[in-house]
Amino acid sequence: MTSSPAHAIRRIGIYTSGGDAPGMNACVRSAVRSALAYDLEVVGIRRGYQGMIEGDLVEMDAKSVSNILQKGGTVLKSARSTEFRTVEGRARAAENLRKAGIDGLVAIGGDGTLRGASVFYDEHQVPLVGCPGTIDNDLFGTDETIGYDTALNTAIENIDRIRDTADAHDRLFLIEVMGRDSGFIALNCGIGGGAELVLIPEQLTDMDEVKRQILSQMTGQTRSSIVVVAEGDELGGASIISDALRGDPAFAHIDLRVCILGHTQRGGSPTARDRVLASRLGSAAVDALMEGHANVMVGVVDGEITLTPSRNVWGRKKSIDYDLIKLTNLLR
Ligand code: F6P
Repeated sequence: MTSSPAHAIRRIGIYTSGGDAPGMNACVRSAVRSALAYDLEVVGIRRGYQGMIEGDLVEMDAKSVSNILQKGGTVLKSARSTEFRTVEGRARAAENLRKAGIDGLVAIGGDGTLRGASVFYDEHQVPLVGCPGTIDNDLFGTDETIGYDTALNTAIENIDRIRDTADAHDRLFLIEVMGRDSGFIALNCGIGGGAELVLIPEQLTDMDEVKRQILSQMTGQTRSSIVVVAEGDELGGASIISDALRGDPAFAHIDLRVCILGHTQRGGSPTARDRVLASRLGSAAVDALMEGHANVMVGVVDGEITLTPSRNVWGRKKSIDYDLIKLTNLLR
């Protein structure tokens, strides 16, 4: 882990990048106010790495983060910058930071954000601490990411609603939830929402077995069935699986619908859990910078603040709890 207690930071930049997540604003607020408590100057970098490249900067004070704690989205805006993937783009970003006198960074985002941060640090050595912000919860180095709890609750609320209508019509619903590479939302909302089956990228999905299980749930019974599909499942999303089921004569008698929850999971006011997590992490990121850490991510593991080198965050895969898969099978 990189740490050099000798350096002095006076002016930090804060940005949110990649997919937004509920609680990012709470994290920005906490980082800004914690930095002010150290007498630092704070600059907001709008639209993540793209704003860094374009010099889209805004001075921040305690008041500029008033009344944002409870809001979804991100007041600093977010973007996925292709330009930052180039050496030239990163050089422009570094030059803008230098001109603005920014000598430390707090980055809030997911896997791509921290990967970018790590490359940027290796090339330009601006001290940087990351905060895990993604609804996917797929970052190594923290038990939960900012936004995950809110997204999970949104997904469960929607499953409950779909269960009502599914039950009224004795229908099979395939509900697709977010998780491009991971099944944390799917697995946990599946348990919390009482899904009959959960399909996630961490576990190979056998189509014949899926069909067998659905049929055994539904055949000869007047009841609904809910299958939660992570968007990243290797069989494809809910629409592809639905096409496969519809093409099978054994499913001719089953009334099947697809519901893709999509970006509804990204918006909304953060839960209490996300607000507290984001507030802890934003403050811990500033503490870490002031202690001389760089190129690390703050996290919470077993209730304690931890620091993980950025390269481990995107270099290692956070594992899913396989006991939860067993539990889903047991409870359906
Ligand atoms: O934030 C991560 C994520 O939610 C993924 O699960 C999903 O695939 C992706 O964002 C979609 O984001 P966008 O529509 O912004 O590209």
